[in-house]
Amino acid sequence: MMNFAVFASGNGSNLQAIINAVKKGRVRANLKLVVSDNPSAYALKRAKKANIRSIVVEPIGFPDRESFDREIIKRLEQEQIDFIVLAGFMRILSPVFIRKYPHKILNIHPAILPAFKGAHAIKDAFEYGVKVTGVTVHFIDEKVDHGPIILQELVKVSPRGTLASLEKKIHAIEHKIYPKAVDLFARGCIKIHGRTVKIR
Ligand code: GRF
Repeated sequence: MMNFAVFASGNGSNLQAIINAVKKGRVRANLKLVVSDNPSAYALKRAKKANIRSIVVEPIGFPDRESFDREIIKRLEQEQIDFIVLAGFMRILSPVFIRKYPHKILNIHPAILPAFKGAHAIKDAFEYGVKVTGVTVHFIDEKVDHGPIILQELVKVSPRGTLASLEKKIHAIEHKIYPKAVDLFARGCIKIHGRTVKIR
């Protein structure tokens, strides 16, 4: 089985969904490490409760992004991590990091890419007045919110809904499709041809 790490900066509800799926045997890979840039991330409590090793690497104390990334790479190598799952990790990884793990970093974005890139996708889509939005799981490449798309699922924006109710729907879909995508990747069911991802 492959070893993987989850990177999270905040609440970690996607981390929790992945932890639960690993426990149930629905993600056939070993969640070996949780990495956070934020010592007060609730994700760290979730890791602790699940008995998963976690590390905090704070950007402060590193002169630049590359040296911060190199420190994380060192820790990932120590743990023999094969692939990385970003789950609400609020930092942009440098090319140094991305080239080290080509097509081995997954990310989840709470909109249908390439629409509504950026850190406030749910709010941006809601305020734009879209009738449908959704969730994207994709590989990371050197452009933000850009790499090949693994899975997408649509969410209808209800005419009487609020931003909060839309967020709730989006998160529920995230918790369903992210473990699924991680499992597909871990079992070698994903092939990439340019921008197109084929699933066996
Ligand atoms: C999710 O909405 C995810 O799509 C985005 O950041 C949020 C993380 O939430 N990238 P959580 O920390 O997993 O609860």
